[in-house]
Amino acid sequence: MTGIRDLLGVDLPVVAAPMAGGPSTTRLATAVGTAGGFAFLAAGYRTPEAVAAEIAELRAGGHPFGVNVFVPTPVPVTEAEFRRYADRIAPEGAPYGLDLATADRVADDDHWDGKLDLLRREPVPVVSFTFGPPPAAVVRDLRRAGSRVLVTVTGPEEAAAAADLGVDGLVAQSGAAGGHLGTFTPAAPPAPRPLPDLVRQVAGRTGLPVLAAGGVGGGRDVADALAAGAVGVLVGTLLLLADESGTGRTHRDALGDPARDRTVVTRAFTGRPARALRNRFVERHDAAAPLGYPALHHLTRPLRVAAAGAGDADRLHLWAGTGWRGARAAPVADLVAELTRPL
Ligand SMILES: Cc1cc2nc3c(=O)[nH]c(=O)nc-3n(C[C@H](O)[C@H](O)[C@H](O)COP(=O)(O)O)c2cc1C
Repeated sequence: MTGIRDLLGVDLPVVAAPMAGGPSTTRLATAVGTAGGFAFLAAGYRTPEAVAAEIAELRAGGHPFGVNVFVPTPVPVTEAEFRRYADRIAPEGAPYGLDLATADRVADDDHWDGKLDLLRREPVPVVSFTFGPPPAAVVRDLRRAGSRVLVTVTGPEEAAAAADLGVDGLVAQSGAAGGHLGTFTPAAPPAPRPLPDLVRQVAGRTGLPVLAAGGVGGGRDVADALAAGAVGVLVGTLLLLADESGTGRTHRDALGDPARDRTVVTRAFTGRPARALRNRFVERHDAAAPLGYPALHHLTRPLRVAAAGAGDADRLHLWAGTGWRGARAAPVADLVAELTRPL
């Protein structure tokens, strides 16, 4: 049976999940590697040049690592629906002098070709994909170049489709996960199920090594996912407050704010379902938000940047998984030690 060492080249079954938008830093990845775990860099929302610089830095550090890429699987939104939503949220931008009502409906592929060129040219130990299955030729090329290739799946059907591509393993992400759900069908995300059940279903369906992700709130959850057959466990939210993570101040403060009482899956910020701490923006707009990615991501981005800078947690996407109460500010070495204590 493939174990964590065969798949990722490390011995500790704790993996720092890719977290685009700031939290994933080379410092965080290095600290996780030094602690004996494995870490992903997040290529999402970054230029190929920026990703190349991070890869060079991690390579020099000598620990194995992975790079996570968004597959361009756009979720369309009509101009009429987009305009309706832009009009609706326009008052949110007014305090920051932003004119959201006239924003363009932007479509982009997050530098897909440039990132793949980079990963083919300068192979990294592991490449993972989310937001859908990558083309089979991409999987083949990256594996030929020497990388292990993983795909995030949220249920057994997606797992079977990814297995058909010839990938090395799967990230089984439950709906309890913080941030975007990696589902291939954003209009109909899979029914929530406990992480150990998802691991059993995905591993049973494919026979591939599975990394579990979603809702981990402490070492007990790690142990349960491993007992269900996972070879390792991705941890995202629990690392958001780590000293080495790049999580912004407003997000950090909200995670520690006892008044924040729940997480919800919402498309209000980006047009794709993602789990976040409930805040006023979600309360006001979630029910009216259309699907539409990356159009809604680009629409709300200036607002979120302004809100983050102003300490305005009620207009910011506060990505968090259901285990967020277990997050605490500490060096990564301590957090990883806690997570592996029950093993
Ligand atoms: C702030 C944040 C950003 C994320 N960005 C990405 C990303 O760039 N790529 C990805 O595949 N998953 C992303 N995720 C999902 C994580 O990789 C992982 O599946 C999730 O954090 C696991 O659930 P947990 O947060 O409950 O531990 C993100 C999650 C968070 C919290």
